[in-house]
Amino acid sequence: MAETANAVALNESQVLEVPASAAAQGSKQTVDPWNVQGEVGADGQIKAINYDKLIEEFGTKKIDEELLARFERVTGKKPHHFLRRGIVFSHRDFELILDRYERNEPFFLYTGRGPSSDSIHVGHCTPFMFTKWLQDTFDVPLVIMLTDDEKYLFSEKRTIEEVQGYCDSNIRDIISMGFDPNKTFIFSDYDYVGGAFYRQITRLAKHITLNQARAIFGFNDSSNIGKIHFGSIQGAAAFANSFPHIFGEDEKKTVGIPCLIPCAVDQDPYFRATRDVAARLTYQGVRFAKPSLIHSLFLPALQGPGTKMSASIDSSAIFMTDTPNQIKNKVNKYAFSGGKVSVEEHRAVGGDTEVDVAYQYLRFFLEDDNELEKIRLAYSKGELLTGELKALCIKELQTFVAAFQERRAKVDDAAVKQFTDIRPLTWVGNPKVPKAGIVVPKLEVAEGAEGDGKLTKNQLKKLEKQRQIEAKKAQKAKEKEDATAS
Ligand code: TYM
Repeated sequence: MAETANAVALNESQVLEVPASAAAQGSKQTVDPWNVQGEVGADGQIKAINYDKLIEEFGTKKIDEELLARFERVTGKKPHHFLRRGIVFSHRDFELILDRYERNEPFFLYTGRGPSSDSIHVGHCTPFMFTKWLQDTFDVPLVIMLTDDEKYLFSEKRTIEEVQGYCDSNIRDIISMGFDPNKTFIFSDYDYVGGAFYRQITRLAKHITLNQARAIFGFNDSSNIGKIHFGSIQGAAAFANSFPHIFGEDEKKTVGIPCLIPCAVDQDPYFRATRDVAARLTYQGVRFAKPSLIHSLFLPALQGPGTKMSASIDSSAIFMTDTPNQIKNKVNKYAFSGGKVSVEEHRAVGGDTEVDVAYQYLRFFLEDDNELEKIRLAYSKGELLTGELKALCIKELQTFVAAFQERRAKVDDAAVKQFTDIRPLTWVGNPKVPKAGIVVPKLEVAEGAEGDGKLTKNQLKKLEKQRQIEAKKAQKAKEKEDATAS
């Protein structure tokens, strides 16, 4: 068993290679897929995570006004409030995705979840909310990976049966985020590994040495070999040739189709390794596309902005199964306050919104910019008290969670089957530009009955009809656009 980190560190995994000293006084901040913790000052206090420092250390790019302006020009859509507020703050090659959208060349979205608990929490929802918005904006296929294998390999306690159980309920949670079933494929590693996907896993595995895995992920001699190999599994879904049912069988065409990965910044190490391998891979002379990334901040733990909300620490998180009362009690009891100790002092000096967890949650969940600014000013001036700010946050979270629960109650087995069946997807991309380099899957007519994962003749007919309708819609939109332009 590896050493464990200090108790204040919020670790998803039970088996960690990060030495206890990492969380000691005067230690640097740690952000990787298993540990998220701000710098610990000489006074033993955990500081807020310094995201600018992460951009520098990881070698990513900050999302700036210029990129947002280009995004708006290219998509004709006002940037999401996560983009406007710097919650989605950093990227790798996002501009290449905008180039492709401009020319309507194919690309896809890829994100995921490690099923470590029965229910996702509000923090997990944030990359999914943003991914849904990207899917609505770009109208492209989306693949969602459930890393049940990761959650088994990285935990001493969890059994395979346990993670598979979490997987099923997490898939239902993800469906409740509102993804379009015609454009979304959700899969678990235990179910999907094989065929083209496994071939891609081995391509990655062959190009990552033990030394590289140690350097990127901090593994040591006691790490089980499943962990060392796992990066090649998470990375394999970043390549279109891993999904022949979506992009077709012709790998000469598919290896060049890139993806855009929305995630919180803890997942970046996986994709740094993946991008590095992609740069060295070719298929019959065709280069593999490097995945692009777009990173978000962590929704902080209730205890403060030095750590992320974590499913393994119940008191750090608001779960999507929490009742209105549980939400109220957790926020009132645990949410770290940027307010002053006495009402008098607070009225005189004002509160600090940068560290106040209730305010930070409102930044994520309150969409109205004016309302948020009013709250910020009132709290900073001391006009709004901590209890009042918490009440606003509680109301917003209760509304968000209740709406989710209503959608979740409607997700039945048929919906799960619809999203997880291995099948072609339909998408239009940029409606103003005819599709360039379209890759249409070769549809195989299944001999067998429904339910074996293949499509029946009737389903194929329906799909083809849907495709034709979407193509007509795109054509009409283009004609309308041309007419307005002239
Ligand atoms: P997991 O289950 O730890 O997290 C799922 C997604 O939620 C993000 N996240 C958070 N975002 C905001 N605030 C938080 N407190 C918070 N905690 C987690 C994660 O960054 C992630 O985007 N190995 C992955 C599963 C995975 C994946 C992917 C994720 C496989 N392929 C591609 C993103 C993209 C995992 O365990 O995620």
